[in-house]
Amino acid sequence: MKNRGNKFRILITDHLSNEGIEKLREFGDVDIQPGVSEERLKELITDYDALIVRSGTKVTRGVIEAGVRLKVIGRAGVGVDNIDVESATERGIMVVNAPEANTISAAEHTIAMLLSLSRNIPAANQSLKSGEWSRKKYMGVEVNGKILGIIGLGRVGSEVAKRAKSFGMQVIAYDPFISQEKASEIGVTLLSFSDVLSSSDFITIHTPLVESTYHLIGSEEFEQMKTGVRIINCARGGIIDESALVEAIKSGKVAGAALDVFEEEPPPADSELLHLDGVVVTPHLGASTTEAQKAAAIVIADEVIRALTNKPVRNALNMIYVDEELLSTIKPYLVLAEKLGLLSAQLIPESSHIAEFNVSYEGEVGMMDIDTRLITGAMLKSFLSWFSDGVNYINAWVVARKFGMKVTESKSEGVENFSSLITLTVCDAGGAKSSISGTLFGKDDLRIVRLYNHRIDATPSGFMLICSFIDKPRVIGPVCTILGDHGINIAGMQVGREKAGGEAIMVLNVDSSVDASVMEEIKKVPNIIDAKLVKL
Ligand code: NAD
Ligand code: MLT
Repeated sequence: MKNRGNKFRILITDHLSNEGIEKLREFGDVDIQPGVSEERLKELITDYDALIVRSGTKVTRGVIEAGVRLKVIGRAGVGVDNIDVESATERGIMVVNAPEANTISAAEHTIAMLLSLSRNIPAANQSLKSGEWSRKKYMGVEVNGKILGIIGLGRVGSEVAKRAKSFGMQVIAYDPFISQEKASEIGVTLLSFSDVLSSSDFITIHTPLVESTYHLIGSEEFEQMKTGVRIINCARGGIIDESALVEAIKSGKVAGAALDVFEEEPPPADSELLHLDGVVVTPHLGASTTEAQKAAAIVIADEVIRALTNKPVRNALNMIYVDEELLSTIKPYLVLAEKLGLLSAQLIPESSHIAEFNVSYEGEVGMMDIDTRLITGAMLKSFLSWFSDGVNYINAWVVARKFGMKVTESKSEGVENFSSLITLTVCDAGGAKSSISGTLFGKDDLRIVRLYNHRIDATPSGFMLICSFIDKPRVIGPVCTILGDHGINIAGMQVGREKAGGEAIMVLNVDSSVDASVMEEIKKVPNIIDAKLVKL
């Protein structure tokens, strides 16, 4: 990767704790530009390898497209609704976050909001400070014995559940992606969305803001709730429809709301939510603790450094994570996959349109406890790189989809003659298929063992001359003589045939390139069908 003065350049555009900044400064050139506009960011970003943000900076498609040398976007926190992850993936830019760093702080803030709401603490505080002594006006309700409904029982939701239970609350939750078993471990009953809405005295939201959760709680949902329900949102503005909430509070359906997040941040000064009685607000403080900010800054600095130095990254949102131990086990397969992809790309006839790309994993490799999409991704990356610039591990699957390729994987336990076999079969739009298989001998001795229908045993490295021919005398000798006459040394040779006198294949590892005129001479040898030089 290129970088100025051999150092990576990192831009930080939101507040980041010093511990993270120091770590980054030991590694690269760091610039801090808080509060830049989108237009200014588009200009600045062209010079940077990494961008680190919190929720304040909007990392739009435009910003990502302007980031011509951008390799990684780090989010010092969990929510990535301010980052266009899809655009980043298309452009092969890794997006990493620090999902666990602020979980406890966000859960504690939610509990603080729950109690503030039930005991009117902010309003009572304000009243006393302004000279009033109104005890009756600020009568509250206990949370003990009440039902807390949690929408989204992930990291924060689960921590809120544990704390609420210690207050004697009965906790129910709706989360379509969590099992009852998991919920039971923390004493939570999973119910349907409408049952949670209709049964709860307090409802707290902990889902991400994505297309499917935008305005998840609107007027219809408020209708289903108990009269006098109290709502807490420390997740994201936009999950609750704010105008519907204002109406539900005004009508008395909702007794109060505690909001840390808003559809627009900061909310406009005339937002009714800032002025209604019964609404407690904080300016997105869920993660604003010394502990959470320090942890998020350190985690994101580490992750960005790992991404820039091509080390496995734990919290990438658009890349599969493998720990270093597992990576060392699968590395030979990744290398083999890249060789198969590159070999296949060079052997398919020019102008073929590849419609299908199938990878089969047989034997041990098919049974290993690994996500084979990583290996298929490596193969796709090298295959597509032959035809297109800028393909990497992150965007290989997206680029394949854009090219209209259907990528499939299959796995099977048994394989004859080898302990593991990886086969790439590409199929063109007309239905013509070609397959190449590779294996490992020992730990990392890579071999191509099948080329189309021919059994061979070739080492995939350097220059390889691959000739198909009719299996007759006086073909192999003349080809070798031509190479010798031009000073090209043959390092290895493999011949495979289906049957005597039928079509055969010759794979020659040669120590140097073979120029076009020599290739033409080889193609003219009687009974040669075709000859190709590939470079692996
Ligand atoms: P998480 O991914 O661990 O949990 C989210 C849960 O929501 C998951 O279990 C998921 O299955 C569930 N979910 C998704 N769609 C759902 C739906 N339609 N209905 C019900 N459940 C659904 O995330 P997290 O770390 O717990 O964070 C939760 C939210 O809190 C995020 O929006 C995050 O950005 C926000 N957050 C805010 C602050 C803050 O400062 N206010 C701090 C931390 C996190
Ligand atoms: C998050 O998503 O991590 C929180 O909203 C906190 C933050 O923006 O820093």
